[in-house]
Amino acid sequence: MEAAGKVIKCKAAVAWGPHKPLSIEEIEVAPPKAHEVRIKIVAAGICRSDDHFLSGALNEVKYPVILGHEGVGIVESVGEGVTDLKPGDKVIPLFIPQCRECRCCKNPNSNLCYKNDGKYIGLMADGTSRFTCRGKPVYNFVMTSTFTEYTVVDEIAVAKIDDNAPSDQVCLLGCGFSTGYGSAVKIAQVKPGTTCAVFGLGGVGLSVVIGCKTAGASRIIGVDLNSSKFAKAKELGATECVNPKDHNEPIEEVLAKMTNDGVDYSFECVGSTGVMVSALMSCHFGCGTCVIVGVSPSSTKVSFDPLLLLTGRTIKGAVFGGFKSKDEVPKLVSDLMANKYSVDGLITHRLPFDKINEGFRLLREGISIRTILEF
Ligand code: APR
Ligand code: ZN
Repeated sequence: MEAAGKVIKCKAAVAWGPHKPLSIEEIEVAPPKAHEVRIKIVAAGICRSDDHFLSGALNEVKYPVILGHEGVGIVESVGEGVTDLKPGDKVIPLFIPQCRECRCCKNPNSNLCYKNDGKYIGLMADGTSRFTCRGKPVYNFVMTSTFTEYTVVDEIAVAKIDDNAPSDQVCLLGCGFSTGYGSAVKIAQVKPGTTCAVFGLGGVGLSVVIGCKTAGASRIIGVDLNSSKFAKAKELGATECVNPKDHNEPIEEVLAKMTNDGVDYSFECVGSTGVMVSALMSCHFGCGTCVIVGVSPSSTKVSFDPLLLLTGRTIKGAVFGGFKSKDEVPKLVSDLMANKYSVDGLITHRLPFDKINEGFRLLREGISIRTILEF
């Protein structure tokens, strides 16, 4: 508590612009204002979405920015009016907040919140930043910014979790795992005995595989252009894997032959509009459901024959697996601690925080599933 109310100087990985390595810098982190929480980050995952901004595939963020949105930490201090969190609490920052007051928050079937930062404003609710570096304000990233030793987050974007939760695993519940797992169990609501196809076997797709298996699917077909992903997918529950490059016909035709005309559920976990159409076409007519999980590059559009829907296929999409973040992340943590599922298989690398650029290299070269940065 000795730093409460004071500026904290600490290390952060600052992104000064796209196409540049992150720069480990000393930054100043201002104390939390009313309804804000300052968090000491303990562990953070590197997600493909962070890389989408660095690579320029998504181009909306303002620089300089502190990226990272998949982490876990300990509350250092709280601003005025924060009643449900206190210093010492273990927490997960939430890139989809839950204000519990807006139209979406009040709808039991939605997990969006009017107060999310989908427009990448990068500032706190009062329009200012809590981060400065070399005298310049630094933007936050989707209300979270986990690539820093300390961050400040709005109270609506923090889930309090079990103090005994394994930090080096539950950080993945802040994005990748929850996104994939929820897409299977909550958005698709995969039924026992069904057939699923998962396009893209990165951290998100493998989390879909874990969700389909937990839900009791009897066939889980992994699809990836990189066959080196297949062993891990099978370890986590895929019953078979297909590489589109090994076939002359389109992947949807390959899957149709394998599955008596199509799958019950397909999941797009690549972020490619072409794969989205293939995933929809892979669904069985009359009953198949396609879930869009991947984030496609800025300004791209999908085009498909509407007859695909008229003939009884459903297409859905969701962020964060449809989970209401503040309410459901603590339950996901309890389920992990009760061994209802495991995220061990997703963690391929662990690195000290200041080796973050190495972590991005492992992701870009297709070597890692998830690298956990330890602070
Ligand atoms: N068909 C099948 N698989 C493909 C294709 C394709 N056309 N193109 C790429 N892939 C595979 C890659 O080989 C890789 O294994 O998709 C996988 C994507 O995995 P990651 O890059 O590790 O991404 P991940 O973190 O799983 O995120 C996937 O979800 O949240 C979003 O922004 C994220 O859009 C991204 C997607
Ligand atoms: Zn809301």
